[in-house]
Amino acid sequence: GRRGVAILGIFVADLAFRAGRLPGIGETIAGSGFKMGPGGKGSNQAVAAARVGAKVTFISKIGRDEFGANALATWKKEGITPRVVEMDDQPTGAAFIYVNDTNGDNAIIVVPGAAATITAADVDAAADAIRNAAVFITQLEQPVAAAKRGLAIAREAGAVTIFNPAPAERFDDALYGLCDYVTPNESEATLLTGIEVKTVDDARKAGDIFLKNGAGTALITLGEAGALLHSKTQSTLVPAFKAGPVVETTGAGDAFNGGFAAALAEGAAPLEAARFGAAVAGISVTRAGTAPSMPTRSEVDALLKR
Ligand code: RIB
Ligand code: NA
Repeated sequence: GRRGVAILGIFVADLAFRAGRLPGIGETIAGSGFKMGPGGKGSNQAVAAARVGAKVTFISKIGRDEFGANALATWKKEGITPRVVEMDDQPTGAAFIYVNDTNGDNAIIVVPGAAATITAADVDAAADAIRNAAVFITQLEQPVAAAKRGLAIAREAGAVTIFNPAPAERFDDALYGLCDYVTPNESEATLLTGIEVKTVDDARKAGDIFLKNGAGTALITLGEAGALLHSKTQSTLVPAFKAGPVVETTGAGDAFNGGFAAALAEGAAPLEAARFGAAVAGISVTRAGTAPSMPTRSEVDALLKR
């Protein structure tokens, strides 16, 4: 039968710069630190899911270059099976990440490179991997047409479908009909519904719109307030876990989504899976980096038992 998690998304090299503030136009400021590491929302979710024990297949495109070699090495080390096309004429993507060195807040510019060329036909070529998975998840860093095809293949095969609309971009509402779960953060929910999402009540209103548009369940992440699991049968706030001092919140959404997907693939109920995702995210924010900050299964289990 179907097993594990199939993820369609992008890998990029994260170039993280820590500084007290963002420079203005024409200004140069000294930063306090630099780190390069594996990133990209889809690949981060793949690492999060694999570290907690899921069998993960990652579908994408990269360039045949140094960052691409980093991608392949990362997936190998994490036990992720790549279904990835290596392109000769496109680079592997990269992200500029500004991290505020006092509160860990971030601002990002992401360039998907080769992954920007992922088409619906590319997704068709990996359809067997999607059909073999218990859970399929995708985001919006690659073209929306590719996300839509992946969700359609998964839905037809009877896999659980998760759509993490990040970064938010307007798309055809028909896409919601393919989603068992839609998992935006506050700003994405705001952009997609037109409802300014700041409080749990706002998230409930936005959640109603996602349901009306055809999503099975809205799971809206609210930063340190937690996440709202909102469906026709329940509307429950899953609190965030405080696992330690916050170092960097970049990739916390990916930690949450990867953990959530992995738990669903194990057969966890939605609320239990959301709690699991919250624990994965809670640990990830206590460490620098995105993919490198994802916790192991035993770390997550220990936090859940606490
Ligand atoms: O969600 C965090 C990720 O978004 C970073 O790893 C960066 O690569 C951007 O794509
Ligand atoms: Na982190």
